[in-house]
Amino acid sequence: PPSPRTTERLLADDAGIARAANLLRAGGLVAFGTETVYGLGADATNDTAVAGVFSAKGRPQFNPLISHFPDTDAAFAQVQATALARQLADAFWPGPLTLVLPRAPGSTVSDLAAAGLPTLAIRVPAGPVTRSLLARVGRPVAAPSANPSGKVSPSEADHVLAGLAGRIDAVLDSGPCAVGVESTVVDLSRDVPVLLRPGGVSLERLRAVCGPLAHPDDHVHKLPTAPGQLASHYAPDLPVRLDAHAVHPHEALLAFGDELSGAGLVWNLSPEGSLDEAAARLFAGLRFLDSEGRRRGLTAIAAQPIPRHGLGLAIRDRLRRAATPASTR
Ligand code: TXA
Ligand code: MG
Repeated sequence: PPSPRTTERLLADDAGIARAANLLRAGGLVAFGTETVYGLGADATNDTAVAGVFSAKGRPQFNPLISHFPDTDAAFAQVQATALARQLADAFWPGPLTLVLPRAPGSTVSDLAAAGLPTLAIRVPAGPVTRSLLARVGRPVAAPSANPSGKVSPSEADHVLAGLAGRIDAVLDSGPCAVGVESTVVDLSRDVPVLLRPGGVSLERLRAVCGPLAHPDDHVHKLPTAPGQLASHYAPDLPVRLDAHAVHPHEALLAFGDELSGAGLVWNLSPEGSLDEAAARLFAGLRFLDSEGRRRGLTAIAAQPIPRHGLGLAIRDRLRRAATPASTR
């Protein structure tokens, strides 16, 4: 196990952002809020710092990490950008989109952060605090979600501390994440754009810019160049039952829209049926139903059906991973 660290909780004011940037520049591990989820940041050019990310998370293998940048120019300096990459960046950055591109010959990102691949995943996250932090660091910042490997992703600073206190140097608290599910990952290093992970930018909005992308289900589990796509991820301790049309007495209910009757413990992702609201409330809901459900002696979480459009695809993807039995994790 990694040696214990004292974890500072930093306010997202000028002093807090400066402290976070200094810690990162010195090789520290600092979690910070993005518009998607909290990331566990490290200087992506520093192998030792990046190794610390893997050990703090207890990652089973060295998956490639996304490098984060304050603006498009800084991001594209690390890769061989294509015309389509520029169009996508214009349309969606800053925002919840990650692009995979061939690394530039002069890329400063460590091989460990890129897992030795010839490609690099880059992203410009939204939010004034995040961008000001990244600008102050002045180097690519590698950041997977700030949770122990295999656990539910954090959308609040308290979630980060619950999983990683004592294993990281600080968390910069910028409040709850607005989007709530991770970025959409698109691989632009092949002949055709490939959707590696559905996420905060919906497939419909992507298609409007880059034309047809294959359905995620065709690719997510098959592509050998997408390590990190373990079948089970985001797993609460209670098993999750998908597309439930009734609730059993021993189950907690993850509702969407009109609630099924009969559950004693309910988290409604969005009573009005908004998929954007549901995404933002997803991980907090899984955490709540898991801990409160276990406290009450419930044995499972039933999830009502989520529509297959907009952010519904990303929500369904995360729920499917949460529902995969532990034996295959
Ligand atoms: O919203 C997000 O993307 C969050 C926040 C913190 O930015 N980050 C995040 O990072 O979700 P992580 O490490 O949990 O997910 C990275 C994803 C994985 O699915 C990984 O396989 C893929 O990006 N990835 C990274 N580099 C890649 C590469 N060179 N080729 C293919 N896939 C890559
Ligand atoms: Mg993750």
